[in-house]
Amino acid sequence: MRIAVLASGRGSNFQSLIDASERGELPNANLVLLVVNKKNAKAIERAEKHNIDWIFIDHRGKDRVVFDKEMMDKLTEYKVEGIILAGFMRILSTDFVIQYKNRILNIHPSLLPLFPGAHAHRDALAANATKSGCTVHFVDDGVDTGPIILQKEVIINPDDTEETLSNRILIQEHIAFPEALPLFSSNRLKVINNKVEILPP
Ligand code: GAR
Repeated sequence: MRIAVLASGRGSNFQSLIDASERGELPNANLVLLVVNKKNAKAIERAEKHNIDWIFIDHRGKDRVVFDKEMMDKLTEYKVEGIILAGFMRILSTDFVIQYKNRILNIHPSLLPLFPGAHAHRDALAANATKSGCTVHFVDDGVDTGPIILQKEVIINPDDTEETLSNRILIQEHIAFPEALPLFSSNRLKVINNKVEILPP
């Protein structure tokens, strides 16, 4: 399956997929393209280092639908069949989500449906939660609401800060995405009534 990764910044989740791929753990997934919406995204260096094509599409001053159409044109050109949002900090238009229904995976740093949105770690700490984690899910047209594929838990310590918590959750993110992608790329994920069923190999 031809996969595009969309990222906005650091790209450590993108790196975890590159590493898994180079270890031979993603036999059915081919990382063919990185799309960034920030010119200085560190993800670009990672793509270059591993010979993965990348493109920058500027979202500034553009209507969301226009930006997404530009992305869709590129994804079509690259014959992309699956999309990974790896720290892509843009909400996708309904057109985009419909075009790739149940073909877009996102990772979010909380145990959804708890703490959706841009401040998951801060919100978990503010709520005095005793655990959090990360969620890999299909993207629908809500914010962090799509069918859940898998989750990894992390205990919250009383002295955790946003930084310590996000660092610990990130370790789990780097396990979760490489676990979820091969399930997807080998067509083992079935969405029924908004729930994900994992089919046997
Ligand atoms: C990750 O923690 C990811 O879960 C989060 O952004 C970070 C990106 O890190 N995504 C979201 O909050 C999406 N709502 P990375 O660029 O190093 O992969």
